Amino acid sequence: MTATATVRYHDHHPRSASLCDEILAGFAATPKQTSPKHFYDAVGSRLFEQICEQPEYYPTRTEEAILAEACDEIARLAGPEAPLLELGSGASRKVRLLLETLQPSRYLGIDISREFLIDSTRRLAADYPWLEVHAACADFCRPLRLPQAFKRAKPLAFFPGSSIGNFEPAQALDFLRHLRRLLPDGSGLLIGVDLLKDRDRLEAAYNDRAGVTAAFNLNLLERIRRELDSDIQPRRFRHRAFFNPVESRIEMHLVSPLAQQVRIEGHTFSFAPGESLHTENSYKYSPEGFLRLAERAGFQGQALWMDAEQLFSVHFLRSA
Ligand code: AVI
Repeated sequence: MTATATVRYHDHHPRSASLCDEILAGFAATPKQTSPKHFYDAVGSRLFEQICEQPEYYPTRTEEAILAEACDEIARLAGPEAPLLELGSGASRKVRLLLETLQPSRYLGIDISREFLIDSTRRLAADYPWLEVHAACADFCRPLRLPQAFKRAKPLAFFPGSSIGNFEPAQALDFLRHLRRLLPDGSGLLIGVDLLKDRDRLEAAYNDRAGVTAAFNLNLLERIRRELDSDIQPRRFRHRAFFNPVESRIEMHLVSPLAQQVRIEGHTFSFAPGESLHTENSYKYSPEGFLRLAERAGFQGQALWMDAEQLFSVHFLRSA
C-alpha cells in the first residue's frame, strides 16, 4: 500500500488487456464484434459524460433523482458504521450524494483505470477532509481482496449507472457471485438497473438528436486509427442502435453501407454491404427479473426504488 496525498492507494496490478489482440480477434469473429470497454479512452470517456447530459438519455438524471429521494432510507439500511465502496468509481455526482448523507468514515474507490482513479479519489479526499479515502486499482471482475479496514465492518457497495446491463446475463451472474464472495456477510449492495420499457423511449436514448451517441460509437474506430496501425475510415461506417425484444437489450452496431476492406496491424478484414461490427449490448431488466438474478448470486432484496414513470430502478440488496 502507498499513500498518494491523502489517498491510501492499493495497486492490484490488473493485467492490461491488449487492445490490439482483442480488436483483431473481434474483427476476425463471425459476426464481427468488440467489447464495450474499448469505448472508454479519454475521448470516449468525455463523450460518455456528454451522453449523460442528453435530453433523450434518461438513466443518469433519473438515477440521481431516485438516490436524492431515497438517500435517508439508504443510510438507515446501510447502518451508521458502514464504509462505502464504489465499483468503477468515477467523477460522478452520485457518490457525493451518498457520502454527504451516509457520512461514512471510509471510502474505497475501485477502478481499472489508474490515472482516472487517482485523480477522482484525490478530489474526493480534498473535498471531504473528514473521510479516509482508499483507492484500489483493480479489475473488479476478477478475484480481489478488500483492504483490511473494509473487511472488519459490513461495507455498502455501490454500483451505479446500470453498468451491470453491459454484461451478458451469464457474466452479470458471475460478477454478482464474485461480489458476494468479496463482501462480508450482511453487507449491502446498492445497484442501479435500467428497466425494460417501450421501444421508442429506449431507442431514442441511444440515438440522441445531437449525435453524441453516434460520435461515441464511431470513436471506437477513431481510437483504432489513433492507437493501432490501421487505415480504417470512421466516415465509411454508420451508427446503428436498436432494441432487440427477444434478448431484452439495446444493441449498438457500426454498419458498413458499402463493401470495403480495412487493414489493422497487417491483417485485412472485408465488410460486405450492410455488414456490421457489433459494439455494445445494454440489457434492460424488469425489477423481478433482476431480483431473481441477484438471488441466484446469493443476495436478498431489501428495498427497491423507481421513478414515477418506472424508467430506472435502484435495488438495495443484502449479502445473505
Ligand atoms: C455505461 N452504460 C451503462 C451505458 C449504457 O447505457 O449501456 C453506455 C452507453 N452506451 C451508449 N450510451 C450509453
